[in-house]
Amino acid sequence: MGPDDTADDRLDRRWWKEAVVYQVYPRSFNDSDGDGLGDIPGVTERVGYLDALGVDIVWLCPVYDSPMADNGYDIRDYRAIADEFGTMADWEALLSALHDRDMRLIMDLVVNHTSDEHEWFRRSRRGDEQYEDYYYWRDGRPVDEADDATNEGPPGEAPPNNWGSYMGGSAWSYDEGRGQWYLHSFHEKQPDLNWRNPDVRDAVAEMVTWWLEKGIDGFRLDAIQCLSKADGLPDGDPNDAPVGLAQFTYGPRIHEYLRELYERTFANYDVTTVAEMSGTTVEMAADYLGEDGDGLHSLIQFEHMDIDAGPGGRWDPEGWGEWSLPEFKRVLSRWQRADDVWTATYLGNHDQPRIVSRFGDDEASREASAKLLATFLLTTRGTPYVYQGDEIGMTNTDFETLDELDDPMTVGAVEDIIESGAADSYEDLRAFVNYTTRDQSRTPMQWDDSANAGFTDGDPWFPVTDTYREVNVAAARADEDSIWHYYRRAIELRHESPVLVYGDYDLHVPDDEQLFAYTRTLDDERALVVLNWSGERATFDPDGLGVGDARVALANYDDPPTAPVGSEFRPYEAAIYRY
Ligand code: GLC
Repeated sequence: MGPDDTADDRLDRRWWKEAVVYQVYPRSFNDSDGDGLGDIPGVTERVGYLDALGVDIVWLCPVYDSPMADNGYDIRDYRAIADEFGTMADWEALLSALHDRDMRLIMDLVVNHTSDEHEWFRRSRRGDEQYEDYYYWRDGRPVDEADDATNEGPPGEAPPNNWGSYMGGSAWSYDEGRGQWYLHSFHEKQPDLNWRNPDVRDAVAEMVTWWLEKGIDGFRLDAIQCLSKADGLPDGDPNDAPVGLAQFTYGPRIHEYLRELYERTFANYDVTTVAEMSGTTVEMAADYLGEDGDGLHSLIQFEHMDIDAGPGGRWDPEGWGEWSLPEFKRVLSRWQRADDVWTATYLGNHDQPRIVSRFGDDEASREASAKLLATFLLTTRGTPYVYQGDEIGMTNTDFETLDELDDPMTVGAVEDIIESGAADSYEDLRAFVNYTTRDQSRTPMQWDDSANAGFTDGDPWFPVTDTYREVNVAAARADEDSIWHYYRRAIELRHESPVLVYGDYDLHVPDDEQLFAYTRTLDDERALVVLNWSGERATFDPDGLGVGDARVALANYDDPPTAPVGSEFRPYEAAIYRY
């Protein structure tokens, strides 16, 4: 840093670092026309609500035309809006409503795969010359050469390799028309695009530019770990979950594809990008980011999402649900300290259970623990992401039977577990499924205490949780002490405090089993955050931290200790100090 550098240059200030993102899962957000499904006009109706909360960016999960095998992550037409969500004119109205309030819109970019009903796939499966190589098509193997011949093909034929999909079963399905197998890292209705084919990359870049020209403010890039696969598609280690993970993720050409996409599209617009990168590590991450890397702005890492999984990963029905705070701090602190990496700070989203049920206590301390989680999200390094409903402390529910579930990933996992003999029935797995299923975050948003929580006048596509009479937006906004108002104040504080965005991160008491405490420092500005992440009292006794009386900037109890060092913090007490 030279003497002439301005503070802005030094900090590398960016709007997308200073913003708070709110994630909308449109199907479950707000239904404007009574068909029981949330829709785009429903989101537009709530733009004032989002503005009142204080968020800056809306990330809208997929609203494109889709047969909805994976609730829109299976796209049939990238340039059309799904009928159930509205029209392109509705979408344009949403974009203007957000821009009118100085808010921005980022869209989901799902280009590892399309729907099997996309025109590209329909033509590819017919062997149409132009599209024949748009997907991964391979011949099967003779059954006697394959260890595991799941997914039905013609007699005597097994899938081309042993890879399993994230949605359970083989990653290959047989197509009668073409007489070959196609690869799908996710659902069989989500065939993987063949990024090795330059025509695919051209088509994707053209489509991305088409959306950027419409004036959107960026993209969340779905599942980019899968864009490049190992050469020759070799068999994977049968112990990996899913099998082949090491072969179908982070392949040799991933940087080339991302950098090329960046140069052809994002680099030409003032937009932001956040890449979903399951399996990434701090060591790998920087290569994807910034001008010296692939040009991406930020990434969604998963290490803290894996913390409570069993040894066999998220869908291992043994050993799940346990995690320790020291380990959680170690994992997150690695990311916090990596100067060359910018992440999305999140605890939940549409693929995860409810944060207060998972990381807080949704029974004895729902209010306090939900506020503690808000404090964490809004005071760490990275762009904070708030998932719809978390701002009112929505909780997990109980799915009593397999029929009540919607998520194909959960259903696939349950089928695989039962087939493997690790459980006899859903009933054996119910507690586990309730703990981890993606469906927990997909129940309708709870707006008020009227029928169906004010989500719809019709029959909701997915049941509203039975907490809605107490846990709803109307009640929360009417109560100054609510979780909602706490989020609003924490967002406001972040906006006023460059130290919370740009400050260095120092962890205190790393081995403490109850307290997560850190200081953020920017020049002579300091913020100390003390979180008692437990249901018991805890004394904050760090070594050598010279803080006497300090100003409390925000706290989730009325009368927090004013001299934090040496003080006792109550269950799930959270306080932000300035000194
Ligand atoms: C991402 C999405 C998830 C989807 C998957 C396949 O992980 O967040 O919802 O199922 O990609 O597109």
